[in-house]
Amino acid sequence: MGEFIIEQHGPVERWVINGEARRNALSKAMIGELAANIQRVTAMPGVVRAVILTGAGDKAFCAGADLKERSGMSEDDVARFLNELRGIFRSIEKSPCVFIAYLNGVALGGGTELALTCDIRIAASTAEMGLTEVKLGIIPGGGGTQRLTRLVGRGRAKELIFTGRRVTAAEAMSLGLVEKVGGPEGAMELATQIVANAPIAVSAAKAAIDEGDDLSLDDALALEQQKYALTLKTEDRLEGLKAFAEKRPPKFVGK
Ligand code: COA
Repeated sequence: MGEFIIEQHGPVERWVINGEARRNALSKAMIGELAANIQRVTAMPGVVRAVILTGAGDKAFCAGADLKERSGMSEDDVARFLNELRGIFRSIEKSPCVFIAYLNGVALGGGTELALTCDIRIAASTAEMGLTEVKLGIIPGGGGTQRLTRLVGRGRAKELIFTGRRVTAAEAMSLGLVEKVGGPEGAMELATQIVANAPIAVSAAKAAIDEGDDLSLDDALALEQQKYALTLKTEDRLEGLKAFAEKRPPKFVGK
């Protein structure tokens, strides 16, 4: 059986991690298929514009590394796996497609790290998040120390990572770890709202925000200018102005 169940809703795809029995843990097969799907949507910008990533069942979004598989892996195997995982997670951030994580249940370790690579997170009220690695004698190895710190700040990231404690959806919301708490329809509504906007503009905004993160303000503003320039030449910009003048919704074509 495939590692993902993929549903198409026009330009939105819903990817359901198909591993309920292992609480959707990150196995080698699962991350291989994740990589292939990211490559697929990234290779056809404008066709699939938003992905909702979620887990099967109502217990877990993703329980992190597949600990059963890992127990049979050598140190080199684990290092190789993590290296691959870091690249795959980075490719989510570099994709022009918008990724929304819908946390249908617990997201632990690599599950929280996977959610952190997504552009926006929505959590079911029963969801919990946690970078629990120190409880297993390791540290977050899929970017968690870096992405959590960038998202919630150094002190909060240290408190969460050093204790390895889990936070409820409500606390995750108050920490800025998730943008919204609610049902799965909220993720689809959000995706629908995003894909109604100009494709090149949305992708350029994602790249401006993500690539500008580590730059000085002057360099980041120059980057914004470059990304803005990508939209200046588009038919969609002219369509936006025309639709405004004609008091109608715009029809964007992604050109
Ligand atoms: N890797 C592999 N299998 C996992 C797993 C993981 N990370 N997490 C859970 N499973 C498996 C369990 O071993 C169990 O399998 P079994 O039925 O063959 O015994 C099955 O999923 C259900 O787990 P269970 O603990 O009974 O379900 P639950 O819904 O009560 O709890 C979790 C789910 C995720 C909270 C709990 O299983 C857990 O804490 N898992 C470990 C999470 C973790 O430490 N991840 C790594 C962080 S680095």
